[in-house]
Amino acid sequence: MEPKEQNPCPHTGVLNIIDPEYTANPQPAYARLLAEHRVAKSIAMHSPILSRYEDVMYALRHPEIFSSEMDMKVLLGTRRPMIPQQIDPPRQTRYRKILDLRFSRPRMQALEPDLRRHAQEVIDGFVERGECEFDSEFAVPLPCRAFLTLMGLPQEELDLFIELKNGIIRPPVDPMDMIAATEFRMKTGERIYAYFEKMIEDRRAKPCDDMMTYLTTVELDGQPLSDEEILDISYLFLLGGLDTVTATLGCSMAYLAANPEQRRKLVAKPELIPNAVEELLRWETPVSLLPRVLKQNVTIGDVELREGALVNLLIGAANLDPAEFPDAMHVDFERESIRHVAFGAGAHRCLGSHLARMELRAALEEWHKRIPDYAIKAGAVPKVSPGIREQLYLPLVWSA
Ligand code: HEM
Repeated sequence: MEPKEQNPCPHTGVLNIIDPEYTANPQPAYARLLAEHRVAKSIAMHSPILSRYEDVMYALRHPEIFSSEMDMKVLLGTRRPMIPQQIDPPRQTRYRKILDLRFSRPRMQALEPDLRRHAQEVIDGFVERGECEFDSEFAVPLPCRAFLTLMGLPQEELDLFIELKNGIIRPPVDPMDMIAATEFRMKTGERIYAYFEKMIEDRRAKPCDDMMTYLTTVELDGQPLSDEEILDISYLFLLGGLDTVTATLGCSMAYLAANPEQRRKLVAKPELIPNAVEELLRWETPVSLLPRVLKQNVTIGDVELREGALVNLLIGAANLDPAEFPDAMHVDFERESIRHVAFGAGAHRCLGSHLARMELRAALEEWHKRIPDYAIKAGAVPKVSPGIREQLYLPLVWSA
């Protein structure tokens, strides 16, 4: 049998980001990148990859050099750039001022009782069965319900919203057929715009206390937001707020299922859960790679990167950099001050981090109260998606 090629390739520094073994378990490849290739290359177009914590932080803190303004319409089905993620400061900073207010920690904590109730109801649905498919039965519906509550939408829209975000992130067509995928995304994108256009109209006619009413009434420099601006913000909320939490829940639970001694620590000391959430975000970093476009030539180490180049910031690897994290390859739920970059950093740092943390903490607490002892079903092979590392198939079993 041929020996399996190393990823990244030790000679060329090319990282195969769609290799299933890598997406399921990227940490060894991160460690090799950090040790051997300050500037590696991605298999896609051989675009450069930065992986050191120091380099990634430099890029995230210099949006005037590492720009977020790039054309992603084909991949996201959008009409225009999403706000604020696909625009640079200073324009981006103006939007963050009005959005940060609505995503503050106290506001997100106010959603917690409702989310816990939902988590308990979902668990009620399968706890007696002694098994579930974690992704479709828990990790997908829970953040979607939180999103509906946040936006002020009825819970009956759950299936529609799951369908819409899947239509953009994983269109149900042959994965190699880029034309069919683009067509599907553009059609889904138009459905998303149409849905939010109607919602804007409804809230203007009949305001209430929800996110969409806020967006239709808030002023930016003395002017209300235009319909286009509200649509470009809402579209991003839908894409940014659902898959990310789903993927983090799945990766965290897959880790805990495969590492019973670590899981037992959380069951014995549930007060460790908030720190475990941070440590698992560091270790798993489900949103592992952030793209940027260079506005000028930059030299990293002895490699010159050219203006206009697409650069990949591998935050998953930065989170395992031993120069920043002592004993970085060890998962330690009692680690002190975990300054991970799983939510990004600088101007574009995740707007939804307080919401995400609340969802993850509440979900892990509710789950372990009811189902403390579980494992991955014998013989099952969990499936992890490339890109945002969602556990697409994670069958768990426990004694009912
Ligand atoms: C565990 C869950 C989450 C993870 C790991 C995550 C990760 C990230 C990362 C890495 C960025 C930076 C992107 C960049 O620099 O290009 C980001 C930005 C963003 N996230 Fe999250 N996110 C999560 C949950 C959420 C939630 C629940 C929302 C709610 C709507 C959200 C909304 C956003 C928005 C709007 C931005 C863009 C911020 C800007 O560009 O100013 N995220 N997120």
